[in-house]
Amino acid sequence: MQAGRRLVWGGVLAGGLYWLVRYLRPRHSSLVLNDKVVIITGASTGIGRALAFAFARRGARVVLAARSVDRLEAVRREIEPYTAAALVVPTDVTDQAQLQHLVDETLARFGRIDVLVNNAGRTYGGWLHQQPPELIEQLLDVNLRAPLHLTRLVLPHLLAQHSGYILNVASGLSRSAGPLFAAYTATKFGVAGFSDALRRELAGTGVYLTLVLPGWTDTDMVPAEAQEIIERHGFEIESADDVAERAVLGLVRGENEVILGGTMARLGILAERFAPVIVRWYWRLWLTPEWVAAMEKVRSG
Ligand SMILES: NC(=O)c1ccc[n+]([C@@H]2O[C@H](COP(=O)([O-])OP(=O)(O)OC[C@H]3O[C@@H](n4cnc5c(N)ncnc54)[C@H](OP(=O)(O)O)[C@@H]3O)[C@@H](O)[C@H]2O)c1
Repeated sequence: MQAGRRLVWGGVLAGGLYWLVRYLRPRHSSLVLNDKVVIITGASTGIGRALAFAFARRGARVVLAARSVDRLEAVRREIEPYTAAALVVPTDVTDQAQLQHLVDETLARFGRIDVLVNNAGRTYGGWLHQQPPELIEQLLDVNLRAPLHLTRLVLPHLLAQHSGYILNVASGLSRSAGPLFAAYTATKFGVAGFSDALRRELAGTGVYLTLVLPGWTDTDMVPAEAQEIIERHGFEIESADDVAERAVLGLVRGENEVILGGTMARLGILAERFAPVIVRWYWRLWLTPEWVAAMEKVRSG
C-alpha cells in the first residue's frame, strides 16, 4: 500500500519536474526572418503554399519548389507584394539531381540559404495489403528519402555559416500510429526519428531543427467527404494558414516540436507515450466500415 503511494507520488514529482525543465529550458528566440533565404518544398499548394505566405509576410526571400510549375508561378505572383524576392525552382524531390539543382539555383540567386522547409508529402489511406507496391515506394521517396537527401545537401552551407534552421513538416502520425496509414505512418515516424537524431547531432553548431506535427488539415490531401466524417469522429480540421502560422512561430521561438491538430490529437500523442493500450482500444472502436471508407479517400499526389 505504502509502496503504491510512493510510486504515485514519485510519478507526479517526476512528471512535474519534466514539465518544469521543458518550460524553463533556454530557447533560441533570436531568429528574425526579414531577408532570410527560405527553401520550401511542396510550395505549390496546401500547407507549403501557406508557409510561403507566412515567410513572405515576415520579409523572407522565398524559394518555391514542387513539380507543378503553373501552380508555383501562381504562388509566386500571390506572395510578390509581401516578399523581398521569390524564386520558382521546379523540382521533383524524388530525383537527387533535381534536389542538387534546387540548392545550386538558390545559391546562384541569393548566395546563401538560411531556412530549409521539408514539407512536400504524399499520403495514401487504406489497408496495407491492398496498396500497390509502387505507391508505397513513392511514399517512402517523397516523405522520407527526399527530406533526408535535401537536408544532407543543404547542411554544409548552414554549418559553414554557423547558423541555419530546418523545419520538418511531419504529422501527428509521427508520434501516434494510425491504422489504415501503415506506410504513411512509417515515413512520418522516420521523419521524426531523423529529426530527433539530427537535432542532437547539431547541438552547439548554430543550426536548429523544428519538427511540426500537423493534425488533420484542410488541403487537397483530405477531400471534403472524408473531412465530414473525420469531424463527426471528434477530430478538428485546421486550416493550412493556421498550421503554417504555428509552424513559423515555433521555428522563430526555437521550439523543438510543434504539435497541432487540437485536443484529440494532443491527447492521442500523450496516451501513446504513457498508456498505448488506450490508443489500441480507441482504434478498435473507431475502425468501422464508414471510417475505413473515409480513410480510403484520403490520398494525394
Ligand atoms: N493535410 C493533412 O491533413 C496533413 C496532416 C499531417 C501532415 N501533413 C503533411 O503536410 C505536408 C503538406 O501536405 P498538404 O496537406 O499540404 O498536402 P498537399 O496539399 O497535397 O500538398 C502536397 C505538396 O507536396 C508536393 N509534392 C508531392 N510530391 C512531390 C514530388 N515528388 N516532388 C516535389 N513536390 C511534391 C505537391 O506539389 P506538386 O504536386 O506540384 O509536386 C504539393 O505542393 C505533407 O508532408 C503532409 O504529409 C498533412
